[in-house]
Amino acid sequence: MANYDKGLQQVRGVIAAAHKDCSLLEKLQFYDQWATQYEEDVSILEYKAPHLAALALASVCQGKQESKLVLDVACGTGRAAEELQHNGFNLFHGLDGSKGMLEIAKKKELYQELKQSMLGQGQLPYDSEMYDAVVIVGALSDGQVPVSVLPELLRVTKPGGFVCMTTRGNISNLKYKAELEEEMSSLQNKGFWEQVLVQEVEQWEKATSEKEITQESDYIRGVIYIYRKMSAPSIVS
Ligand SMILES: C[S@@+](CC[C@H](N)C(=O)[O-])C[C@H]1O[C@@H](n2cnc3c(N)ncnc32)[C@H](O)[C@@H]1O
Repeated sequence: MANYDKGLQQVRGVIAAAHKDCSLLEKLQFYDQWATQYEEDVSILEYKAPHLAALALASVCQGKQESKLVLDVACGTGRAAEELQHNGFNLFHGLDGSKGMLEIAKKKELYQELKQSMLGQGQLPYDSEMYDAVVIVGALSDGQVPVSVLPELLRVTKPGGFVCMTTRGNISNLKYKAELEEEMSSLQNKGFWEQVLVQEVEQWEKATSEKEITQESDYIRGVIYIYRKMSAPSIVS
């Protein structure tokens, strides 16, 4: 077996542990102990979500990016902020449930502020309409951050600001993805935000289990969504 394949098999084992049915607390403890290996492991999986999400946000959010305040929700080790910095953004706040992941993010000295907080359990610890853009990358999926977080992402975004979200299109995440898209549409129909970008990506990352590998590909699909917050809700009938 080539070294690369050996690495991939080992990472699949690690991810299987991450996705096993467990409580949120156990999942965050898993991230705590994975934190120092996380970036090496996800690069073996060819995890491109932070790079692609940053490019997508930069494409819709033009002009004076260095002065735009971005909230990186479920920031982990800071991959999304790093990629956003390559695209001209420079002001970041970050939030994550895992202390271990936040410790790695802190060392990068990218964020002006980092907070440890659980997502999907009530309000985010921020005032309303604080951020020019809110990103959540790699965390909207089954067993991680619940769909119920969406109104909170919207609340903390400034009117006219952007919310950039990603999810995976692998078989075991399809039910979650459908619920996510239903909630996105519901918020749009209520006039709270409007969709400005949907980008489907075929080779999102390497599949992490045999059952996700198809005849056509050993990658799973993923999606980037960007919504713009409306200045005042305008109900669409
Ligand atoms: C796959 S990592 C993604 C990290 C980073 N955004 C990236 O793209 O590399 C998922 C992150 O979400 C955090 N997370 C997952 N569920 C969470 C929850 N319910 N509350 C807070 N953090 C959560 C984990 O601690 C982890 O850092």
